[in-house]
Amino acid sequence: MKFHVLTLFPAMFDGPLAEGVVGRAISSGLISVERHDFREFATDKHGSVDDYPFGGGPGMVLKPEPLFAAVDDLKGRDEIDDSTPIVLLTPQGRTFDQSVAEDLAAAGRVALICGRYEGVDERVRTHLATDEISIGDYVLSGGELAAMVVIDAVARLVPGVVGSLGAIQDDSHTSGLLQFPQYTRPASFRGMETPETLLSGDHARIAEWRRREALRRTKARRPDLLDSADLSEKDRLLLDEPPQPG
Ligand code: 6GU
Repeated sequence: MKFHVLTLFPAMFDGPLAEGVVGRAISSGLISVERHDFREFATDKHGSVDDYPFGGGPGMVLKPEPLFAAVDDLKGRDEIDDSTPIVLLTPQGRTFDQSVAEDLAAAGRVALICGRYEGVDERVRTHLATDEISIGDYVLSGGELAAMVVIDAVARLVPGVVGSLGAIQDDSHTSGLLQFPQYTRPASFRGMETPETLLSGDHARIAEWRRREALRRTKARRPDLLDSADLSEKDRLLLDEPPQPG
């Protein structure tokens, strides 16, 4: 999986890409993240990437030329082609979720354009980006942190990046439900006990307990997710059961 990030602040990515699951995925060659400073594609001698908005108003707008030139450069080097998603990170985009992450992972390579300042020239949206993504209903100073969120979520879906397939399947949202509660040693900690079922060694009982807890937690915290989750008859029965001890 290859990510191309178009940004004015390539160094912002250094820390997040060096650590943890994503850091290992890069070291082992399962994913790569190339950062492209589109200031290098500015067309004037001052390296301008932004300008005043036509019609007036506060703030600056990212100019189209450097971003179009940066994408042309990637296409000219066959790093991306006409089928590669070119995603503009902006608070006006559709909200990022697990299914968008799955679509991007399936594409194999993706270009991420990090917006900055008060906005991006509309022609970047209409004639360069193939998709616009937001990571939630709040405003960030730029698309860089959002791009890192997207890279992390997509990288996890690349085979081999996360240790076992099971670990991904149980993740919150992968199954359409929130994750069940997890415990580790010690079984008893400051008077707080691990549910007996988890210590029983009875794998069928454990699986049923986890499914019931995932269902209940989702119903309590994110009932909106239950509407689109695909639930079996058994799931509906589990949801209706009264709470049981461990
Ligand atoms: Cl993708 N960009 C900015 N600037 N703010 C955001 C965002 C993106 N997603 C949520 N807020």
